[in-house]
Amino acid sequence: MPVEQCVTVGEGQTLLHAAPAVGRYTGLKPDRLYLQYEGMNPSGSFKDNGMSAAFSHARFVGAKKAACASTGNTSASLALYSSVTQIMQAVIFIGSGKISYGKLSQALDYGALTVQIQGDFDDAMARVQEVSRELGIYLVNSVNPFRLEGQKTIMYRVLEALRWQTPDWIVVPGGNLGNSSAFGKAFSELHELGLIDRIPRLAVINAGGARTLYDLVEKQGVCWNDGRPDLDRIEGYFREMDAAGRRASTIASAIEINRPVNLHKCLRALQWCKGVVRQVSDQEILDAKAQVGAGGLGCEPASAASVAGTKVLVEEGIISPDERVVCILTGHELKDPTATVAYHTHDAKYFDEVLRSRGVERAQFANRAVQVKNDLGEIVRVIESRG
Ligand code: F0G
Repeated sequence: MPVEQCVTVGEGQTLLHAAPAVGRYTGLKPDRLYLQYEGMNPSGSFKDNGMSAAFSHARFVGAKKAACASTGNTSASLALYSSVTQIMQAVIFIGSGKISYGKLSQALDYGALTVQIQGDFDDAMARVQEVSRELGIYLVNSVNPFRLEGQKTIMYRVLEALRWQTPDWIVVPGGNLGNSSAFGKAFSELHELGLIDRIPRLAVINAGGARTLYDLVEKQGVCWNDGRPDLDRIEGYFREMDAAGRRASTIASAIEINRPVNLHKCLRALQWCKGVVRQVSDQEILDAKAQVGAGGLGCEPASAASVAGTKVLVEEGIISPDERVVCILTGHELKDPTATVAYHTHDAKYFDEVLRSRGVERAQFANRAVQVKNDLGEIVRVIESRG
C-alpha cells in the first residue's frame, strides 16, 4: 500500500520512560524498570496503533462502516478514527454497566452509533461478529489481523528507545490477548530477520477476576504445542465456565473478559517468547496503579496489572532483580477516574461501593484530600504542617 494512503491521526508518538521508583516497588534494581506509556496516543490507549493499520486497510478495500465490541478503549479509538478521518461510520457494541465513563464519553462525544446490549463484553463480542457478517461491516476488533500488525509497532518503539538492545522481559496485561499476540509476532519476525539477536521473555498478566489464560496455561498446562494446542481442554474449560455461570469480574474493566478472541495466537506468542502468565488481585492492581501515578504517569487499572505482575514475578524469583523489564502502560489515567478517586479519598461509602465489593480492603498509598475550613489561617497551617 502506498505510504500516502496510510491512515494516521498521530498515533505512536509514545515514549519509553525509566521508572526507578516504580522499579523499587516491584523489587527490581534501580535502573531496571521501564514503562512504555501508551496512554499518550490520540484516544488515550494503545489501541490507536492497531486502529491506524485497520483503517488503512479498510480504506484500501473501500469499507463504509466499521464495528467493534469493546470494554471501552477499542470503541473510543474506533470512534475517534471514524470522526477524524470520515472514512467509515462507527458502530460500537458495549455491555451493560461495564464501561468506565471516560471511555463511554469518548464514543458518545465522537458521534459513534453506540449499541449497549444486555450482557457483558463476551456477549457483545459474539454478537458483533454475527452482525458484521450479516451486514458486511468491517470488524476492527483484534480478530482483525491488521490491528495486530499495527500493535507490533509498540515493540519497535521499545527497541528503538533501548538502541535495539533486547530487554529481558516484556510485561503486558492480558484481556482479549491482542497485544501479547502482536508482541510475540513482532519479536519472532525481528529475530528471523536478524535485527535482534535474542527474543525477550513475555509475561502476560490477568486480573484474578478474569483469569482464563492463567487457568488454562498455568493450571491446566495448555500450550501452543507447535500449532496443536489441546482444543478439548480449552473447550472443556469454557463449557465448565458456562455451566457454573462464572463471569469475569474485576476493577480493571478493560480486561474483564472471559473468552479472549486471540487465545490461540497468544499461546503461540508464549511459546516463541518462553512466556509465563500470572494473575493479580484488584488490591495488587490498585496499589501498583497508585505507585505508577505517584511517578506522574498515571494509568488506568488494567495497565497497572503489568507492574503488579512484575512485582509478583520478582517475588517468585522468576524475574531476577538485575533483569531489564519493560511494562506496557496500555491506557491513560483519565480513562477511569472512578477507581482512582475511590482509592485515594477512602470515603467510606465510595470505597465500599466501588472497591470493597471487589475485595480491596486497604489503600496504603492513598493521597487523601485534606478537609479544611475556608479560612486563611487554617489553610496556611495545613500547608505549613506538610513541610
Ligand atoms: N489494557 C487496556 C487499557 C485495554 O483497554 C485492554 C483491552 C487491555 C489492556 C488488554 O489488551 O485485549 O490486547 O489483551 N481492551 C479491549 C477493548 C478489550 O475493548 O478496549 P488485549
